[in-house]
Amino acid sequence: MQEKSGSKPEMARNLLSYALTVVWPNAFTRLDVRLRLSSALALWRELLRHPASVGAVLPSSPWLAQAIAAAVPLDSQALIVEIGAGTGAVTQALLARGIAPSRLIVVERSAKLCKLLRRRFPYLTVVQGDAAELIRWVGPQDAVCAIVSSLPLRSLPDATVTAIAAQMHELLATDGMLVQFTYGWLGASPLQTLGFERYKASWEWRNIPPARIDLLCKA
Ligand SMILES: C[S@@+](CC[C@H](N)C(=O)[O-])C[C@H]1O[C@@H](n2cnc3c(N)ncnc32)[C@H](O)[C@@H]1O
Repeated sequence: MQEKSGSKPEMARNLLSYALTVVWPNAFTRLDVRLRLSSALALWRELLRHPASVGAVLPSSPWLAQAIAAAVPLDSQALIVEIGAGTGAVTQALLARGIAPSRLIVVERSAKLCKLLRRRFPYLTVVQGDAAELIRWVGPQDAVCAIVSSLPLRSLPDATVTAIAAQMHELLATDGMLVQFTYGWLGASPLQTLGFERYKASWEWRNIPPARIDLLCKA
């Protein structure tokens, strides 16, 4: 029998799932080998179909995800938008850091990965859509204090990166921040010529491959 959305069993499951994330943040990232394996398989399947759009051989490691989440401010009630969430490694770290699910909107282009994200985080707003059209899902009236991006900017077409940067720029509050990781360890971020200024860079060497985390604000 099909369970109704919003039914009591569904609500109970969602509540339990959220409580587990809060009291035992690393339960999924450290212990659930099955989840990590199925996440890698889902990413590889997507990689075979859309290599340039995935641009990663493995989901983000817990170290990278935690370093990204640690950069996001907690002292605001404004929205946080995560784009290119993939298998949800960074999403998990954001929730474990204490970001309320009601403050988080997750955007992912792949229908298959969105299905996985919705299964993993049934209490979150997961939007299947293109980051080049962000404003369709996050209204300009919504105050966005942080955008967290796992998008592979180096392998996406220039025109797509320009369109995405313009949408992020329009949505982000004046004092908002953008977190973007890249496997390009050196050099400027493409976002630095698209209206953003980088104010900090750090490196996570334990990720495969090692990644640089750029913190940017509006120029
Ligand atoms: C590097 S992977 C994500 C890694 C993620 N942190 C993880 O651990 O699974 C990049 C993701 O961006 C998504 N993506 C690429 N272009 C996109 C776009 N224009 N809009 C939204 N998502 C996009 C891909 O489908 C992919 O899931």
